[in-house]
Amino acid sequence: MLLLQQYKKIRAHSEEICRPLEIEDYVVQPIVDVSPPKWHLGHTTWFFETFILIPNFKGYKEYNSQYNFVFNSYYETVGARVVRTDRGNLSRPSVADIYSYRSYVDQQMQAFLQNSILEDELISLLELGLNHEQQHQELLFSDIKFILGHNPLFPAYSDKVVFEKKNTPNNGFIAMSEGLYEIGFKGNGFSFDNESARHKKYLETYEIAASLVTNAEFLHFIEDGGYTDFRHWHSEGWEWVNQHNAKAPLYWHFVDEKWMYYTLNGLKEIDSMESVCHINFYEASAYAVWKGMRLPTEEEWEAASHLFEWGERWEWTGSAYLPYPGYKKEPGAIGEYNGKFMVNQMVLRGASVATPKEHSRKTYRNFFHPRLQWQFTGIRLVK
Ligand code: AVJ
Ligand code: FE
Repeated sequence: MLLLQQYKKIRAHSEEICRPLEIEDYVVQPIVDVSPPKWHLGHTTWFFETFILIPNFKGYKEYNSQYNFVFNSYYETVGARVVRTDRGNLSRPSVADIYSYRSYVDQQMQAFLQNSILEDELISLLELGLNHEQQHQELLFSDIKFILGHNPLFPAYSDKVVFEKKNTPNNGFIAMSEGLYEIGFKGNGFSFDNESARHKKYLETYEIAASLVTNAEFLHFIEDGGYTDFRHWHSEGWEWVNQHNAKAPLYWHFVDEKWMYYTLNGLKEIDSMESVCHINFYEASAYAVWKGMRLPTEEEWEAASHLFEWGERWEWTGSAYLPYPGYKKEPGAIGEYNGKFMVNQMVLRGASVATPKEHSRKTYRNFFHPRLQWQFTGIRLVK
């Protein structure tokens, strides 16, 4: 059965991502936004147990009734949970317990999928569970990078996984004509609810960069005093710069007169040709203002996305994360998945080097608070 094969493959991939870790790496939570890897492994398992097995598999025995409290992320519908800042204090359940939890739920899921005829609604829920696990696979990479990259020893995650790729910079700008464009998901495959409803949007003419901003280009901004001139920044962004004494993207370190950065392969000299990474919305926007340009809106990005290469960095857009016209929230807990976060966040488009394969679409809407740098983010300009 195709779904079962997909299930096994995706579940195994999360464990592969964690294979290079030491036990201690699984446990810590250096900042509130970064969850311990063991928590991701438990939470994605809890998702299948809570939303598929418990309500649908007759006779299913919950693995441990205390786990709902520990692994519920934010679903008010399913009850109380550990506060987010305390995820790193969970020395129990142990990493070994969580792996046992995974294998129990995987066995039960296998039995369930082999012995049931699934209705469309349940297939959709299963697809959501798999796409959810893939979202957490990307989060695992960003969180592991933050954990290891904030260790004074700068340990490498692995010498096999290479996340820095060469950009082909300066491919100029693509001219887009004014007109009515259709925005949002269309088709039969999986999509998140926030990609609907498809709707029309009138766009003025614009020119969008064919390639992403490189480290060399971003270095010009730094050397031109970009982080010391309030004129490039939003008020909140300027406050962020001053509060954090920001001088460069996350993971950049000025060592012996040279800019170095932490990568998953360890500390390296900055590669000028690579696309800049780990900048927040404030930095992306300040860079664009300094250039005399701006970030694309999410509709401009989508309308032009067949004309440039994307998928290396999540690209900050100038669009607030809001419901599309015609957006409908699912009833029940699943309705809490996306809709309730549609305030005070910005949309990112594309995908990144940490995004699992088959987990990207041109209509995909990622979203984060403007201050957050730890995702694999980059900059595409519009003029
Ligand atoms: C879409 C990446 C912002 O990190 O909360 C994980 C993904 N949703 N579990 C997030 C998600 C539910 C979401 N982002
Ligand atoms: Fe989640």
